[in-house]
Amino acid sequence: MIGSGAREHALAWKLSRAEGLDELYVAPGNPGVSAIANCVPIAADATVELAEFAVSLRIDVTVVGPELPLVLGIADEFARRGLLLVGPTRAAAELEGSKVFTKEFCLRHDIPTGQALVARDRDQAAAAVKKLGVPVVFKADGLAAGKGVQVCHTKDEADAAIVQYFEDHAFGAAGERVLVEECLEGEEVSFMVLSDGTGVLPLASARDYKRLADDDQGPNTGGMGAVSPVPLESGLAATILRAIVHPTIAGLAAEGRTYRGVLYAGVMLTRDGPKLLEYNCRLGDPETQVVIPRLDGDLLPLLRATAAGELGSVRATWKREAAVCVVLAAGGYPGTPLRGEPITGLGDALAQSGVLTFHAGTALQEGALVTAGGRVLSIVGRGATPAEAAGVAYDAVAKIRFNGMQYRRDVGRGMG
Ligand code: AMP
Ligand code: GLY
Repeated sequence: MIGSGAREHALAWKLSRAEGLDELYVAPGNPGVSAIANCVPIAADATVELAEFAVSLRIDVTVVGPELPLVLGIADEFARRGLLLVGPTRAAAELEGSKVFTKEFCLRHDIPTGQALVARDRDQAAAAVKKLGVPVVFKADGLAAGKGVQVCHTKDEADAAIVQYFEDHAFGAAGERVLVEECLEGEEVSFMVLSDGTGVLPLASARDYKRLADDDQGPNTGGMGAVSPVPLESGLAATILRAIVHPTIAGLAAEGRTYRGVLYAGVMLTRDGPKLLEYNCRLGDPETQVVIPRLDGDLLPLLRATAAGELGSVRATWKREAAVCVVLAAGGYPGTPLRGEPITGLGDALAQSGVLTFHAGTALQEGALVTAGGRVLSIVGRGATPAEAAGVAYDAVAKIRFNGMQYRRDVGRGMG
């Protein structure tokens, strides 16, 4: 497996329990992963080196966590060497790699999404804002580590965004083209499926808590918490599959970009029905930390079938229990995180029943666990209902301390 976050720790935790698994290697992994798998010091974006490593150990199947190696073409490197890898080719990963590509793709295939204009300079952006009105959303075309999207509520905020995107060039090459998009209103859901190029297998429903502070206040982050399942009105999952997911898989195949891997649709449930906000070409983080623990049975056969084009031969069943993930972030996040702060209480947290802890931005310094990144730990509670799971998670969170620790208090609350 490739990656080093809490998503990858959760996947490694699940995979390490798979029947028939001989060895699990994770590149580069993290201190939590190293307790359950062999960590290999190769960076996640070193696609050729990773492929050579997989050849040398005759790795059976490779799972890719983050988007960057996929957008760089790691699936193509592995395919060239005849190795099985779960994740789309570079051409198919354009769905996450270019928001302009995806918007135009949606138009070509009649997939419901917000109206948008492409801006290459400030004049075009100003004209787009004038046409769409506020609120309006700015999106850097390329990968921007989850930070390229800005929702502007007022004309002043839109003006500031124009400066940020086109004068300060805050997103470098990723921001050469910018989507100026209609702001959609409604509830947001993370809809993830496995696809083998033709068929799809939906994963359990989940919701992400993207803003830093309670009640969806503060700046956008990579994700401060998650809950699974979320109550989807009856028929809604079927509508999302019919109107959004299936036309995407079919459209990509028709355009010679057959999609094999995880497809994650960020969907806004608007009054006019579900509309696509964005696609990701991989599992969500922190959604994975709540979805994977709910999977009954092994993950490995599902992933292998995805990569091999044999999804029709497997099925997934989900535990009835709920899972809630609370992300513990470092001081300073989503800006520059406070590093090197000692973390205590993790053992006490883990000792509670129904708790799982996954590492992300942690490091070992002279044998002691310290903070080493923005999102430090994912604390997962499991229970009969989201409220019960949240109680378990927050009891565990209360045991953990590090200087500057930030987390949301409202994850999974108010859902029954
Ligand atoms: P993305 O990186 O595209 O997921 O965008 C980050 C977040 O910005 C999304 O999860 C939404 O909460 C918000 N967002 C993106 N596009 C829109 C839109 N058209 N209308 C309202 N909110 C949006
Ligand atoms: N949790 C949002 C993402 O993984 O993109």
